[in-house]
Amino acid sequence: MKVKMFDLKIKDKLLRRDLIKSLNRLFDHGQFFMGPEVLDFEKKIAKFLNVKYALGVSSGSSALYLALKACGIKQGDEVITTPLSWIITSNAIIECGATPVFVDVADDLNINPDLIEKSITKKTKAIVPMHYAGHMCDMNKILAIAKKYKLKIIEDAAQSFGASLNKIKSGNFSSAASFSMNPMKTLSGYGENGIVVTNNKKIFNKLKTLRHAGTTSDPKKKITNFCNDTSLNHKMDTINASLLLISFKKFKHKIEKKNIIAEYYNKNLSPKIIKQDDYMHKGEKNGRYVYPIIINKRDKLRRYLEKKGIETKIFHLPLINKSPFYLKNYKSSKMRNAERLIKKIIILPLNEKLLKGQIKYITDNINYFVENDKL
Ligand SMILES: Cc1ncc(COP(=O)(O)O)c(C=O)c1O
Repeated sequence: MKVKMFDLKIKDKLLRRDLIKSLNRLFDHGQFFMGPEVLDFEKKIAKFLNVKYALGVSSGSSALYLALKACGIKQGDEVITTPLSWIITSNAIIECGATPVFVDVADDLNINPDLIEKSITKKTKAIVPMHYAGHMCDMNKILAIAKKYKLKIIEDAAQSFGASLNKIKSGNFSSAASFSMNPMKTLSGYGENGIVVTNNKKIFNKLKTLRHAGTTSDPKKKITNFCNDTSLNHKMDTINASLLLISFKKFKHKIEKKNIIAEYYNKNLSPKIIKQDDYMHKGEKNGRYVYPIIINKRDKLRRYLEKKGIETKIFHLPLINKSPFYLKNYKSSKMRNAERLIKKIIILPLNEKLLKGQIKYITDNINYFVENDKL
């Protein structure tokens, strides 16, 4: 049996029809830049996330970069973040001219809030938590630290669209937060996409300017070069917004399916296996990006599953602080737990197209490996 990690082909005929219809609407009105679909998408996302403002941008990377910029992160600042993430979490900080300061992760794969205070200096301006695989960071602790030291929080919520803690959705714990909607994400677009959200009007206005080359747009389109800030073009294409509107309609159903698969793994995978879900907070809803487990002999398990036709992934290797650019340019203290975990994490398929038989096949094969390899 073959099992893929992600299955991005569009086989559903009705979905294909809806996508083509939305493209036809776009071809009819011809507003390829900032057309009505962009505004519609932004409004729907703001309502869903319960935030005042949402701005569509060209990627999750742009979203994080703009969020940091709009919050005033600049040269000379230090920003605390996790070493266990996609490199963008930290590259965005560097692109603002600031220095990333890494704090080790806890066993749940998210930044360890109990270690943050030790890393705060006079230069620290912000904390960038990243909700790994859709599992929320301990935001209550992080918020308390941010309040005590007057730091900004900018969530890299790329992997956690729709996740929440005690009914507060990810993105609401920040001055500004960023999401990715690339084709692999739970709210997935059909190309590169991102959204940046805030509840602060001043930050929103700044974000709008920064998205559009640092200019304020004149509704009459007469004054187009009036530049308050320098920036590049980070706008979301109308074509992407129009397709994302279709994805958004299916989002609830998709996350329900992913939840069912995750629950199956939780119940049926051997108790000898550590699951990220073992660390869920009370009152948490997971964004269900992917399903990580932590296991000894990870590479042997991967090879075994590959032979059985099951695709798995290893995410975010090496740790950001161990990447060549970082080794050369930044000093970093030892990230004991992250270094231990990066050797043991394996990402299991959690895509909503998986069939019952495939989910059972994955689970049975992992359990067989665990029992026979005496982990
Ligand atoms: C944690 C994290 N931050 C940022 C990004 C960047 O998003 P994008 O790929 O849309 O630029 C990603 C994308 O995978 C991510 O996982």
